[in-house]
Amino acid sequence: MSTPLIEICNASKTFFGIKALDDVSLALPAGHLLGLIGQNGAGKSTLMNILGGVVQPDHGGHMSLQASPMPRATRPMPPRAASRSSTRSLTCSPT
Ligand SMILES: Nc1ncnc2c1ncn2[C@@H]1O[C@H](COP(=O)(O)OP(=O)(O)O)[C@@H](O)[C@H]1O
Ligand SMILES: [Mg+2]
Repeated sequence: MSTPLIEICNASKTFFGIKALDDVSLALPAGHLLGLIGQNGAGKSTLMNILGGVVQPDHGGHMSLQASPMPRATRPMPPRAASRSSTRSLTCSPT
């Protein structure tokens, strides 16, 4: 397989004891579209917020863009701001 455009490995995130993401990995090749589907609370926005650098994973979540390491979120964002951010910065179509 060619080098993925974007990749995240083994990301986990817990909010106040609720596991939003459990060891999620994703590799997206260039030129592909990916649909992220799941019921409310499945962790879609959390994954996008980690990829966008808005939310810091608890552990794992090593990310790369065209094989270069991507920085993680450097400081936690207040919970309400983090929940709103994905629709502003990362979502291209309504969910
Ligand atoms: N910033 C946050 N603060 C507290 N809990 C959160 C936050 N973001 C998400 N959660 C919780 O994490 C889980 C996954 O939420 P979310 O990623 O928004 O799922 P989806 O986008 O698939 O509906 C839910 O239980 C949600 O309540
Ligand atoms: Mg969402």
